[in-house]
Amino acid sequence: MNYSSPQIAQAAELIKQRFSDLPNKADILKASELKALFEQIKTMPVEERAVFGKELNLLKTELGQMVSSHSSQTETLPPIDVTAPFGINEAPAQHPHLLPSEFGSIHPLMAELETVLDIFYRMGFRAVESREIDDDYHMFGSLNFPEGHPARDDYDTFMTEQVGKDGKPLIAPAHTSTMQNRILKEFKENLTAGQPIATILPGRVFRNEDLDARHEHTFYQFEGVYVDHGVHAGMLIATLKAFLQAYYKQDIKVKIQPFYFPFTEPSFEFAASCVFCDQAGCSVCSHTGWIELGGCGMIHPNVLKEAGINSDEFSGFAWGFGIDRLVMLRYGIEDIRHFESGNLNFLGQFS
Ligand code: FA5
Repeated sequence: MNYSSPQIAQAAELIKQRFSDLPNKADILKASELKALFEQIKTMPVEERAVFGKELNLLKTELGQMVSSHSSQTETLPPIDVTAPFGINEAPAQHPHLLPSEFGSIHPLMAELETVLDIFYRMGFRAVESREIDDDYHMFGSLNFPEGHPARDDYDTFMTEQVGKDGKPLIAPAHTSTMQNRILKEFKENLTAGQPIATILPGRVFRNEDLDARHEHTFYQFEGVYVDHGVHAGMLIATLKAFLQAYYKQDIKVKIQPFYFPFTEPSFEFAASCVFCDQAGCSVCSHTGWIELGGCGMIHPNVLKEAGINSDEFSGFAWGFGIDRLVMLRYGIEDIRHFESGNLNFLGQFS
């Protein structure tokens, strides 16, 4: 910068010469020369003050820029330790280390989910992923749970403090059925075009459960939704049996018994014979000989109507199976909690 005032130009040169030696660069702004020049303004003839003052401010700005550009060049950002939290007083060698990524492998539940989706893909179903935060309407209202209905309590739902547009807490979905209304609405044009709605909806779900060998707070489900002309419960049972046959590659004994869900009528519970005790009774099946895999039924007319589908013309079925339970039976895994444990000895068996 060229300053027209010789006094300011000379002071600028002197001040800048000292800059590199200053331990605290911001001290340059406190230079005695600068201070003296500002003091001098008061004693100057009024007509000279404006030009002199403006130039002096330019010098101050220039010095300020020198300070800030120096600090941005030398500032080193602290390293981010992705293995934190750990005891900060521990010696660095004691801190946890990340495993080399080549030791990683696909989680068994995700690998099995691919197999499940592939089977349904071959049956003509298309997959749409579920979501991990939802609202009261999709969790309950759209599924024919009236306000205050006791069945709402069956789902031990986790809710957030944050509320949705309806003023009600947002929800960590307790089942993949929260997607039913969206899918029915999105694909209802299929029906008028002579095509069925055939969708499979995998997702992670959450429940405030008492944990045991069959119950986790975080687990996976896959929902199926099928709607067309003339769909009946026999088709539902045939679809699920065909799936189980393809997945387990053997005939497994299944039990279908009446149940209650507000969003299906009739509703059923679908259980498979316990492979851990050959139905003699054990702690995994709570000594019943059966392990419940999922719930299912014919989609309630109110659920179809809520999505704008004529329930006199169309009918459909839906199911929701627990993926964890399915995989437990396939590999003889006796405790569901292994999946979320992060135990490498367990996970390594599937890599
Ligand atoms: C439901 O979640 C219904 N939405 C299923 C459904 C869908 C019915 C469509 C009708 C139509 P239920 O709460 O029974 O139903 O759970 C279904 C399956 O999820 C269970 O059979 C089980 O396999 C799995 N499951 C439920 N709770 C847990 C848990 N805490 N841990 C692991 N798996 C679970």
